[in-house]
Amino acid sequence: DWNMGQVLEEQMEKLKAQVGPDDHVICALSGGVDSTVAATLVHKVLGDRLHCVFVDNGLLRFNEQQRVMDTFKNHLHLPVLCVDHSKPMLDRLRGVSDPEAKRKAIGAEFIEVFKNYATELEKTLGRKPKYLVQGTLYPDVIESCPPPGSGQKHSHTIKSHHNVGGLPKDLQFELVEPFRELFKDEVRAIGRLLGVPEQFIKRHPFPGPGLAVRVIGDVTEDGKLDTLREVDEIFVNTIREYGLYDEIWQAFAVFLPIKSVGVQGDQRSHAHVVALRAVTSGDGMTADWYSFTPAFLRDVSNRICNKVRSVNRVVYDITSKPPGTIEWE
Ligand code: XMP
Repeated sequence: DWNMGQVLEEQMEKLKAQVGPDDHVICALSGGVDSTVAATLVHKVLGDRLHCVFVDNGLLRFNEQQRVMDTFKNHLHLPVLCVDHSKPMLDRLRGVSDPEAKRKAIGAEFIEVFKNYATELEKTLGRKPKYLVQGTLYPDVIESCPPPGSGQKHSHTIKSHHNVGGLPKDLQFELVEPFRELFKDEVRAIGRLLGVPEQFIKRHPFPGPGLAVRVIGDVTEDGKLDTLREVDEIFVNTIREYGLYDEIWQAFAVFLPIKSVGVQGDQRSHAHVVALRAVTSGDGMTADWYSFTPAFLRDVSNRICNKVRSVNRVVYDITSKPPGTIEWE
């Protein structure tokens, strides 16, 4: 792609101009396309002055840590440290049920990790890393803080994306955000130019605050996260089996804070309800719910209720964006 080749060149030049010859940079990898492509770009320019960290925040999908660390090491050859921050994160989220409060808490906890990581690096490098790389996209910027007078319909925050609105004012890092003006498709094109494997480029987006925005209300009780992981894994695997993964922008399950009555075996049950969401989209700013066949919906619902003991009801979200957002929180 000629255009994206030029954008890539420009961003690499900009990075050389922004970061001094002795400065070091840290990057938090989420396992998603944006941060991975951002890190690959920065690594190409700065080499071993880039230090990547993958944070297990306790809000990851099934086996996500192993999958992602394996890709970084074996396919992308990026040096990445894995930090387990699940306990402090889940402790901090205990009892927090307001969606924005959850997002802010998660953002603040991420910043804690970056600060600690920077302090550790300072011991070996003899200087503090000055920059933080983020894979922020144009839609993240728009939806977190639309520019005044931009003619944007939304004059207020829709959601504080953890990598934009969730950052504290006294952040001790300067931000490196090579994709602030780009859409996801463009980042994917740049990733291809940089040799990021196709299977990684095509991964569905996953939000920074992770499964926390897919458990409605408080996330820390009753094995909610584990139930959600199981359901999500069945849903996405079924989509892959049916060959639909690449047609869909994003597909995931949502854990609802209600129980319903059902009958499982010959027994009355009182168990959880989960919602499935799948959408098509060009850029994440608008989206249409995906029309699965009735046969698919029947199959996936049976699989979930048969395998996940704590779930006795599955519903499918038929809301487009707008009026719904893609994530439920
Ligand atoms: P919404 O729910 O706002 O989501 O329609 C649009 C797209 O953005 C993703 N998303 C996030 N990505 N940090 C991210 O990196 C966040 O805080 C965040 N919140 C939502 C969402 O998954 C969808 O692809």
